[in-house]
Amino acid sequence: MHLPDQLNNIQNIELTHFFELIFNVYGYDFRNYNKAHVKRRILNRINNLGLKSISELQHKVLHEEGFFDLILRDLSINVTEMYREPGFYKSLRNEIIPILRTYPYIKVWHAGCATGEEVYSFAILLQEEGLYDRSQIYATDFNPIVLETAKKAIYPVSKIKEYTLNYQKSGGKNSFSDYYVARYESVIFNQSLKKNIVFAEHNLVTDGVFAEVNLIICRNVLIYFNKELQNKVTGLFTESLIKGGYLGLGSKENLMFTDVFDQYQVVDAKEKIYKKTIFSSK
Ligand SMILES: C[S@@+](CC[C@H](N)C(=O)[O-])C[C@H]1O[C@@H](n2cnc3c(N)ncnc32)[C@H](O)[C@@H]1O
Repeated sequence: MHLPDQLNNIQNIELTHFFELIFNVYGYDFRNYNKAHVKRRILNRINNLGLKSISELQHKVLHEEGFFDLILRDLSINVTEMYREPGFYKSLRNEIIPILRTYPYIKVWHAGCATGEEVYSFAILLQEEGLYDRSQIYATDFNPIVLETAKKAIYPVSKIKEYTLNYQKSGGKNSFSDYYVARYESVIFNQSLKKNIVFAEHNLVTDGVFAEVNLIICRNVLIYFNKELQNKVTGLFTESLIKGGYLGLGSKENLMFTDVFDQYQVVDAKEKIYKKTIFSSK
Protein backbone atom coordinates (compact mmCIF):
# COMPACT_ATOMS: atom_id res chain seq x y z
CA MET A 1 0.00 0.00 0.00
CA HIS A 2 1.28 3.52 -0.85
CA LEU A 3 2.18 5.70 2.10
CA PRO A 4 -0.60 8.28 1.38
CA ASP A 5 -3.21 5.47 1.24
CA GLN A 6 -1.92 4.06 4.48
CA LEU A 7 -2.07 7.48 6.16
CA ASN A 8 -5.60 7.93 4.86
CA ASN A 9 -6.55 4.53 6.31
CA ILE A 10 -5.06 5.31 9.68
CA GLN A 11 -6.83 8.68 9.74
CA ASN A 12 -10.15 7.03 8.95
CA ILE A 13 -9.74 4.48 11.73
CA GLU A 14 -8.68 7.21 14.19
CA LEU A 15 -11.62 9.38 13.13
CA THR A 16 -14.13 6.57 13.70
CA HIS A 17 -12.66 6.01 17.13
CA PHE A 18 -12.65 9.77 17.86
CA PHE A 19 -16.38 10.09 17.10
CA GLU A 20 -17.26 6.97 19.14
CA LEU A 21 -15.46 8.54 22.06
CA ILE A 22 -17.13 11.95 21.65
CA PHE A 23 -20.51 10.22 21.54
CA ASN A 24 -19.79 8.21 24.70
CA VAL A 25 -18.31 11.10 26.66
CA TYR A 26 -20.28 14.15 25.44
CA GLY A 27 -23.42 12.59 23.88
CA TYR A 28 -22.98 14.37 20.51
CA ASP A 29 -23.22 11.90 17.66
CA PHE A 30 -21.17 12.76 14.57
CA ARG A 31 -20.77 9.12 13.49
CA ASN A 32 -23.11 9.52 10.53
CA TYR A 33 -22.13 12.98 9.40
CA ASN A 34 -20.75 13.29 5.89
CA LYS A 35 -17.28 11.71 6.25
CA ALA A 36 -15.43 14.00 3.84
CA HIS A 37 -16.83 17.10 5.56
CA VAL A 38 -16.03 16.14 9.16
CA LYS A 39 -12.61 14.82 8.21
CA ARG A 40 -11.73 18.10 6.50
CA ARG A 41 -12.82 20.08 9.56
CA ILE A 42 -10.88 17.89 12.00
CA LEU A 43 -7.71 17.89 9.88
CA ASN A 44 -7.94 21.70 9.64
CA ARG A 45 -8.10 21.94 13.40
CA ILE A 46 -5.10 19.60 13.76
CA ASN A 47 -3.07 21.73 11.34
CA ASN A 48 -4.05 24.97 13.08
CA LEU A 49 -2.92 23.61 16.42
CA GLY A 50 0.29 22.11 14.97
CA LEU A 51 -0.67 18.61 16.12
CA LYS A 52 0.48 15.41 14.40
CA SER A 53 -2.55 13.15 14.59
CA ILE A 54 -6.21 12.74 15.45
CA SER A 55 -5.09 10.78 18.51
CA GLU A 56 -3.30 13.88 19.81
CA LEU A 57 -6.48 15.90 19.31
CA GLN A 58 -8.44 13.21 21.09
CA HIS A 59 -6.21 13.56 24.13
CA LYS A 60 -7.01 17.28 24.30
CA VAL A 61 -10.74 16.69 23.92
CA LEU A 62 -10.64 14.28 26.84
CA HIS A 63 -8.32 16.10 29.17
CA GLU A 64 -8.52 19.85 28.49
CA GLU A 65 -11.49 21.58 30.03
CA GLY A 66 -13.59 23.46 27.47
CA PHE A 67 -11.70 22.03 24.50
CA PHE A 68 -14.70 20.08 23.25
CA ASP A 69 -16.56 23.40 22.66
CA LEU A 70 -13.97 24.22 20.01
CA ILE A 71 -14.56 20.89 18.26
CA LEU A 72 -18.32 21.38 18.45
CA ARG A 73 -17.89 24.77 16.81
CA ASP A 74 -15.67 23.26 14.09
CA LEU A 75 -18.22 20.58 13.28
CA SER A 76 -21.38 22.62 13.45
CA ILE A 77 -20.82 25.28 10.69
CA ASN A 78 -23.04 28.13 11.81
CA VAL A 79 -22.94 30.25 8.66
CA THR A 80 -26.29 31.91 8.06
CA GLU A 81 -27.86 35.23 7.06
CA MET A 82 -31.19 37.06 7.06
CA TYR A 83 -33.43 36.18 4.11
CA ARG A 84 -30.72 33.82 2.84
CA GLU A 85 -31.82 32.77 -0.66
CA PRO A 86 -34.68 35.29 -0.82
CA GLY A 87 -36.64 33.16 -3.32
CA PHE A 88 -37.31 30.69 -0.52
CA TYR A 89 -39.13 33.35 1.53
CA LYS A 90 -40.96 34.58 -1.54
CA SER A 91 -42.25 31.07 -2.11
CA LEU A 92 -43.30 30.73 1.54
CA ARG A 93 -45.13 34.05 1.29
CA ASN A 94 -46.91 33.19 -1.95
CA GLU A 95 -47.56 29.45 -1.61
CA ILE A 96 -47.64 28.58 2.08
CA ILE A 97 -48.91 31.68 3.90
CA PRO A 98 -52.36 31.57 2.20
CA ILE A 99 -52.83 28.03 3.59
CA LEU A 100 -51.46 28.84 7.05
CA ARG A 101 -53.85 31.79 7.15
CA THR A 102 -56.77 29.34 7.24
CA TYR A 103 -55.54 27.81 10.55
CA PRO A 104 -56.57 29.20 13.94
CA TYR A 105 -53.08 28.61 15.32
CA ILE A 106 -49.75 28.14 13.51
CA LYS A 107 -46.77 26.22 14.83
CA VAL A 108 -43.41 26.53 13.09
CA TRP A 109 -40.17 24.65 13.81
CA HIS A 110 -36.82 26.07 12.64
CA ALA A 111 -34.45 23.11 13.02
CA GLY A 112 -30.72 23.96 12.97
CA CYS A 113 -31.43 27.67 13.36
CA ALA A 114 -27.80 28.67 14.14
CA THR A 115 -27.61 32.29 15.35
CA GLY A 116 -31.27 32.99 14.57
CA GLU A 117 -31.19 35.20 11.45
CA GLU A 118 -33.49 32.80 9.59
CA VAL A 119 -35.93 32.74 12.51
CA TYR A 120 -36.26 36.53 12.74
CA SER A 121 -36.61 36.71 8.96
CA PHE A 122 -39.64 34.44 9.10
CA ALA A 123 -41.03 36.17 12.23
CA ILE A 124 -41.00 39.47 10.29
CA LEU A 125 -42.76 37.78 7.38
CA LEU A 126 -45.45 36.44 9.74
CA GLN A 127 -45.88 39.91 11.27
CA GLU A 128 -46.29 41.49 7.85
CA GLU A 129 -48.91 38.91 6.94
CA GLY A 130 -50.81 39.58 10.19
CA LEU A 131 -50.20 36.02 11.43
CA TYR A 132 -47.53 36.49 14.07
CA ASP A 133 -49.90 36.83 17.02
CA ARG A 134 -51.39 33.42 16.41
CA SER A 135 -48.06 31.73 15.73
CA GLN A 136 -45.69 29.79 17.94
CA ILE A 137 -42.14 29.46 16.65
CA TYR A 138 -39.75 26.82 18.00
CA ALA A 139 -36.16 27.50 17.03
CA THR A 140 -33.65 24.78 17.83
CA ASP A 141 -30.00 23.96 17.37
CA PHE A 142 -27.66 21.47 19.05
CA ASN A 143 -25.03 24.13 19.71
CA PRO A 144 -25.85 26.09 22.90
CA ILE A 145 -23.39 28.88 22.05
CA VAL A 146 -25.14 29.90 18.82
CA LEU A 147 -28.50 29.81 20.61
CA GLU A 148 -27.28 32.44 23.07
CA THR A 149 -26.58 34.78 20.13
CA ALA A 150 -29.94 33.91 18.59
CA LYS A 151 -31.82 34.87 21.77
CA LYS A 152 -30.25 38.34 21.76
CA ALA A 153 -31.29 39.27 18.18
CA ILE A 154 -28.31 41.62 17.90
CA TYR A 155 -26.29 41.46 14.68
CA PRO A 156 -23.36 43.39 13.17
CA VAL A 157 -24.39 46.62 11.44
CA SER A 158 -21.97 45.72 8.64
CA LYS A 159 -24.41 43.04 7.46
CA ILE A 160 -27.45 45.29 7.18
CA LYS A 161 -26.94 46.42 3.61
CA GLU A 162 -26.90 42.83 2.37
CA TYR A 163 -29.84 41.83 4.60
CA THR A 164 -31.90 44.79 3.39
CA LEU A 165 -31.33 43.75 -0.20
CA ASN A 166 -32.28 40.15 0.61
CA TYR A 167 -35.40 41.37 2.41
CA GLN A 168 -36.47 43.41 -0.59
CA LYS A 169 -35.85 40.51 -2.98
CA SER A 170 -37.88 38.22 -0.71
CA GLY A 171 -40.97 40.38 -1.20
CA GLY A 172 -40.71 42.33 2.08
CA LYS A 173 -43.54 44.84 2.38
CA ASN A 174 -42.05 47.59 4.54
CA SER A 175 -38.81 49.39 5.03
CA PHE A 176 -36.39 46.89 6.60
CA SER A 177 -35.18 49.56 9.03
CA ASP A 178 -38.64 49.45 10.69
CA TYR A 179 -37.52 46.23 12.37
CA TYR A 180 -34.33 47.28 14.15
CA VAL A 181 -32.49 50.11 15.81
CA ALA A 182 -28.81 50.75 15.14
CA ARG A 183 -26.44 51.11 18.11
CA TYR A 184 -22.80 51.75 17.28
CA GLU A 185 -21.54 48.64 15.49
CA SER A 186 -24.73 46.61 15.98
CA VAL A 187 -28.38 46.50 15.09
CA ILE A 188 -30.92 45.35 17.66
CA PHE A 189 -34.07 43.77 16.30
CA ASN A 190 -37.46 44.71 17.77
CA GLN A 191 -38.28 42.90 20.97
CA SER A 192 -41.81 42.27 19.67
CA LEU A 193 -40.33 39.74 17.23
CA LYS A 194 -39.21 37.54 20.12
CA LYS A 195 -42.58 37.32 21.85
CA ASN A 196 -43.69 34.03 20.30
CA ILE A 197 -40.29 32.43 19.74
CA VAL A 198 -38.92 29.69 21.98
CA PHE A 199 -35.22 28.96 21.47
CA ALA A 200 -34.17 25.52 22.71
CA GLU A 201 -31.34 23.02 22.48
CA HIS A 202 -32.32 20.02 20.37
CA ASN A 203 -30.12 17.50 18.61
CA LEU A 204 -31.66 16.15 15.41
CA VAL A 205 -29.56 12.99 15.65
CA THR A 206 -30.12 11.97 19.24
CA ASP A 207 -33.36 13.70 20.35
CA GLY A 208 -36.92 12.78 19.44
CA VAL A 209 -39.95 14.64 18.06
CA PHE A 210 -39.88 18.22 19.26
CA ALA A 211 -43.49 19.26 18.79
CA GLU A 212 -46.39 18.75 16.40
CA VAL A 213 -46.11 21.55 13.87
CA ASN A 214 -47.61 22.98 10.66
CA LEU A 215 -44.31 24.00 9.07
CA ILE A 216 -40.71 22.88 9.47
CA ILE A 217 -37.87 24.94 8.05
CA CYS A 218 -34.53 23.14 8.03
CA ARG A 219 -32.06 24.50 5.50
CA ASN A 220 -28.38 23.82 5.06
CA VAL A 221 -28.29 21.14 7.75
CA LEU A 222 -29.01 17.82 5.99
CA ILE A 223 -26.10 18.42 3.59
CA TYR A 224 -23.75 17.61 6.47
CA PHE A 225 -25.35 14.19 7.09
CA ASN A 226 -24.84 10.87 5.31
CA LYS A 227 -27.79 9.13 3.63
CA GLU A 228 -28.66 7.03 6.68
CA LEU A 229 -28.84 10.09 8.89
CA GLN A 230 -30.79 12.08 6.30
CA ASN A 231 -33.36 9.28 6.36
CA LYS A 232 -33.52 9.31 10.13
CA VAL A 233 -33.95 13.09 10.37
CA THR A 234 -36.50 13.39 7.56
CA GLY A 235 -38.38 10.57 9.34
CA LEU A 236 -38.36 12.72 12.49
CA PHE A 237 -39.70 15.68 10.52
CA THR A 238 -42.45 13.53 9.03
CA GLU A 239 -43.52 12.44 12.52
CA SER A 240 -43.52 16.05 13.70
CA LEU A 241 -45.66 17.46 10.89
CA ILE A 242 -49.44 17.37 10.92
CA LYS A 243 -51.08 15.90 7.81
CA GLY A 244 -51.01 18.69 5.25
CA GLY A 245 -48.02 20.29 7.02
CA TYR A 246 -45.10 21.78 5.07
CA LEU A 247 -41.38 21.04 5.03
CA GLY A 248 -39.00 23.68 3.63
CA LEU A 249 -35.49 22.39 2.95
CA GLY A 250 -34.09 25.10 0.69
CA SER A 251 -32.46 24.76 -2.72
CA LYS A 252 -29.38 22.77 -1.65
CA GLU A 253 -31.27 19.85 -0.17
CA ASN A 254 -33.66 17.26 -1.44
CA LEU A 255 -36.28 14.89 -0.16
CA MET A 256 -36.27 12.89 -3.39
CA PHE A 257 -33.64 10.36 -2.31
CA THR A 258 -35.01 9.76 1.17
CA ASP A 259 -37.35 7.02 2.42
CA VAL A 260 -40.18 9.50 3.12
CA PHE A 261 -40.39 11.03 -0.36
CA ASP A 262 -43.60 9.18 -1.27
CA GLN A 263 -45.31 10.74 1.75
CA TYR A 264 -44.97 14.22 0.29
CA GLN A 265 -46.10 16.27 -2.63
CA VAL A 266 -43.71 18.82 -4.17
CA VAL A 267 -44.90 22.42 -3.71
CA ASP A 268 -41.80 24.22 -5.00
CA ALA A 269 -39.23 22.09 -6.81
CA LYS A 270 -36.55 24.80 -6.80
CA GLU A 271 -36.80 25.91 -3.18
CA LYS A 272 -37.53 22.31 -2.08
CA ILE A 273 -40.76 22.96 -0.26
CA TYR A 274 -42.94 19.89 0.30
CA LYS A 275 -46.40 19.13 1.64
CA LYS A 276 -46.97 16.06 3.76
CA THR A 277 -49.84 14.08 2.33
CA ILE A 278 -50.17 11.18 4.77
CA PHE A 279 -51.39 10.88 8.33
CA SER A 280 -48.76 9.70 10.86
CA SER A 281 -50.13 7.46 13.59
CA LYS A 282 -47.19 8.11 15.96
C1 LIG B 1 -25.15 26.08 8.12
S1 LIG B 1 -26.13 26.28 9.54
C2 LIG B 1 -27.71 26.59 8.84
C3 LIG B 1 -28.42 27.75 9.50
C4 LIG B 1 -29.73 28.14 8.83
N1 LIG B 1 -30.67 27.06 8.85
C5 LIG B 1 -29.51 28.62 7.42
O1 LIG B 1 -29.78 27.91 6.48
O2 LIG B 1 -29.03 29.75 7.25
C6 LIG B 1 -26.28 24.61 10.15
C7 LIG B 1 -26.76 24.54 11.58
O3 LIG B 1 -27.14 23.20 11.88
C8 LIG B 1 -26.78 22.92 13.20
N2 LIG B 1 -26.69 21.45 13.38
C9 LIG B 1 -25.77 20.61 12.87
N3 LIG B 1 -26.01 19.36 13.31
C10 LIG B 1 -27.12 19.43 14.09
C11 LIG B 1 -27.85 18.47 14.83
N4 LIG B 1 -27.48 17.19 14.87
N5 LIG B 1 -28.95 18.88 15.53
C12 LIG B 1 -29.32 20.19 15.51
N6 LIG B 1 -28.65 21.15 14.84
C13 LIG B 1 -27.56 20.76 14.14
C14 LIG B 1 -25.46 23.63 13.38
O4 LIG B 1 -25.15 23.88 14.74
C15 LIG B 1 -25.69 24.92 12.58
O5 LIG B 1 -26.12 25.95 13.41
